Amino acid sequence: MSIRLRDNRKTEAIRSSVRETELNVSDFIYPLFIEEADDVKKEIVSMPGIFRYSLNRINEELDEVVALGINAVILFGIPLKKDAEGSESWNDNGIIQKAIRYIKTNYPSLKVIADVCFCEYTDHGHCGVLCDNDVDNDLTLINLRKQTLAQAKAGVDMVAPSGMMDFAVREMRDELDKNGFEHIPIMGYSVKYCSSYYGPFRDAADSAPSFGDRRTYQMDPANRNEALKEAQTDLDEGAEILMVKPALSYLDIIRDLKNNFDTPIAAYNVSGEYSMIKAAGNNGWIDEQKVMLETLLSIKRAGADIIITYHAKEAAKQLKKEIRE
Ligand code: PBG
Ligand code: ZN
Repeated sequence: MSIRLRDNRKTEAIRSSVRETELNVSDFIYPLFIEEADDVKKEIVSMPGIFRYSLNRINEELDEVVALGINAVILFGIPLKKDAEGSESWNDNGIIQKAIRYIKTNYPSLKVIADVCFCEYTDHGHCGVLCDNDVDNDLTLINLRKQTLAQAKAGVDMVAPSGMMDFAVREMRDELDKNGFEHIPIMGYSVKYCSSYYGPFRDAADSAPSFGDRRTYQMDPANRNEALKEAQTDLDEGAEILMVKPALSYLDIIRDLKNNFDTPIAAYNVSGEYSMIKAAGNNGWIDEQKVMLETLLSIKRAGADIIITYHAKEAAKQLKKEIRE
């Protein structure tokens, strides 16, 4: 047999008819950093093009997001006050609860997802309650219920636990259901690795641990079989969407989940992955826009249905341009 594979590559008309993967603006979730302060629009040094906003200026960002056709955002809060437990995270007037109410009132078409964790709210920067210098899983679950309920009451569309606590999805599902929020879905950060690619995010969100690291709760980057167990437990506990994070060094894991689970798969194209493309692009070392699209395409081809990415606005612009051309 002699198939001439190049025949399918002759013209753009042929290539587009046999293309297996296509990016769409509806694939993207755009992360937003919202600071409890007045009149802030501050660029994150390690993430050119990404800003921290105070609530009174977030409209500048949201107008653009909606105009570009992006239909979902995920929120991260930077509170004024931090304490040992991160109690601001479940304050009904805390920054994220206010932000949810503001966005749902003023941009009702936008899907609002809230990250559920404590590292931005604790004075020690760890993702839960400390006990003997480690995060105590079950004490953290109690607070996780409180934070989830506060976000639900504020009107959130979906909650996404990112702390890698065991049974987080089970506890959140139960708390939501008990309080009449059985229709709020959960996107589990099911397979979240202990990654150095989160560095720029921790600057952006003021959430670096003040001592130690997150190796006792986030996954060891060396492990692949364990990812399936993490995904299975989240699914069993009631998660609607399973996430892999980071994306690029973990494309094999994304594909594993896609092949093993019949549920939508999300991938988080994290801060360090964004910063590397930006840095090389700003130096003129790569064609930034093309590398960005190729990168996002690879995440989708690996098996992600949903991509959380800081590139969302730029990618949306590029996709619009491709349609016009
Ligand atoms: C908090 C959280 C982190 C990210 C999302 N939620 C950081 C961390 O675990 O330290 C990282 C996102 C990124 O790097 O873009 N649990
Ligand atoms: Zn955290």
